[in-house]
Amino acid sequence: MLEIDSVSAGYGSLTALENISARLPDGGRLGIFGHNGAGKTTLLRCIIGAHAPSAGTVRFNGEPVIPGQVPATVRRGIAFVPQGHNVFPNLSVEENLTISGLLFDPSFVKEVLRLFPVLDERRSQRAGSMSGGEQQMLALGMAMMTQPKWLLLDEPSTGLAPVIVRNVMGQLTAVSKTFGTGLVIVEQNVPATLKVVEHCLILKSGRAVYDGDAATLAAKPDLWEWF
Ligand SMILES: Nc1ncnc2c1ncn2[C@@H]1O[C@H](COP(=O)(O)OP(=O)(O)O)[C@@H](O)[C@H]1O
Ligand SMILES: [Mg+2]
Repeated sequence: MLEIDSVSAGYGSLTALENISARLPDGGRLGIFGHNGAGKTTLLRCIIGAHAPSAGTVRFNGEPVIPGQVPATVRRGIAFVPQGHNVFPNLSVEENLTISGLLFDPSFVKEVLRLFPVLDERRSQRAGSMSGGEQQMLALGMAMMTQPKWLLLDEPSTGLAPVIVRNVMGQLTAVSKTFGTGLVIVEQNVPATLKVVEHCLILKSGRAVYDGDAATLAAKPDLWEWF
């Protein structure tokens, strides 16, 4: 269980998040939406322990996530794919994956390559020479090398062509089905994400203006009024 319990956060005198809560069972899938500056990245940073909430707590399996201890959080089973293509450009696909799993089980590369055939075909290719979509897939594979219980993704579809976005979303569904990994997806592409997640938060100036299931949100003709 991942619990976001009444979390508020800010930067100096600026309030970025106000009283945000969510309770996700193991394997749960949450989408977080909202305009630029709404507080989405700050919420992910609070979950992984990279930013200290000014109030409230994040708990993973009942134990608090300790702010400032990101490596400890990752070892406990929460992985974070930040915005942008975070790969080592001069290493091969396989080297990128192996390095990411060094503190875990490097032989898990086999499982990740089975799940992502695109990466398997390019295992000896230099990561920096791949397309944006392929690099995003590799960043996802690198996060999976830590065999996380939860995967946090900050705008995984940004900058990708629509057909590639469908690919990435499809891979996230596959990860969730194959390994039972819980997903927390921050996205601008709401329709594509609603196909993957089951619960959603819409943030506006740090507050949750929608907190409910994805199907209900997807069925709303006035979806955009929430933004
Ligand atoms: N490192 C920072 N220092 C100061 N203010 C920041 C910092 N990061 C984000 N902010 C501010 O916090 C608010 C929320 O930002 P952020 O969580 O990045 O929003 P989003 O990811 O939804 O675009 C914005 O007003 C932003 O300008
Ligand atoms: Mg952001």
